[in-house]
Amino acid sequence: MLHYVNININGADIKAPKGSSVLEVAIEYGICIPHLCHVPGLSDIGACRLCIVENITNGRATITTSCTLKVQEGMIIRTNTDRIKRLRHNIAELLVAEAPNSRAIQDIAVRCGVKEVRYPFRNGDCVLCGRCVRACSEIWHANALGFIGRGKERHVERPLNMREEYCKGCDYCLQLCPMTVPPCDGPMKPGEEYLCGKCESQLMITEDIPESCVWCRLGEGFNCGRYAGLKTVR
Ligand code: SF4
Ligand code: SF4
Ligand code: FES
Repeated sequence: MLHYVNININGADIKAPKGSSVLEVAIEYGICIPHLCHVPGLSDIGACRLCIVENITNGRATITTSCTLKVQEGMIIRTNTDRIKRLRHNIAELLVAEAPNSRAIQDIAVRCGVKEVRYPFRNGDCVLCGRCVRACSEIWHANALGFIGRGKERHVERPLNMREEYCKGCDYCLQLCPMTVPPCDGPMKPGEEYLCGKCESQLMITEDIPESCVWCRLGEGFNCGRYAGLKTVR
């Protein structure tokens, strides 16, 4: 039998299934918290930090990632305070600078109100979200991928290059990777990266309705479910 706890997100009282994360409950109730590394059904590792929220206890707000925060009785969550918006905007900007060739990440950045990127573009091929690694080990139990190294050296690799032996050829790692969704105008050359600004209609939605979904490519492509069966609470 499902047990529930009472929580409050952005002023809305919600009955949340015990054991679920704040992010899962928010998505279920149509409150869009931008997120990247979360994949329904996979473990959460809090890698991208886009899903940060304020968890208010005794009047004090603690900032934490909502995908790794389990619901508790009486919890008070704020997803769109000025502080959260500022921090999330910066995280999204850094992600675009790291991976300007991902339309999925550009969409999320639009959701976070990013119009310009103040950081130099790096055009890397991985944002270390770990979606591929977790899909490989948790869905296919193949363990053909893993994080190697620390800090700037950290990257995803096939352990000991044993792809042939471990890989089951499911292609889930590719399907879940945000880097496989190219920008509308196609891949950008190094040194010529930009935000095209074609998503301005989406930008208007995010400004007018802070919790609205902008149907980002990550959701469409990877079934985040954030716009399926929404239960509106406002
Ligand atoms: S294609 Fe291979 S490496 Fe990729 S998720 Fe499937 S088993 Fe893992
Ligand atoms: S390869 Fe893709 S899915 Fe895997 S960690 Fe990097 S960006 Fe994420
Ligand atoms: S979705 Fe929560 S940290 Fe990435």
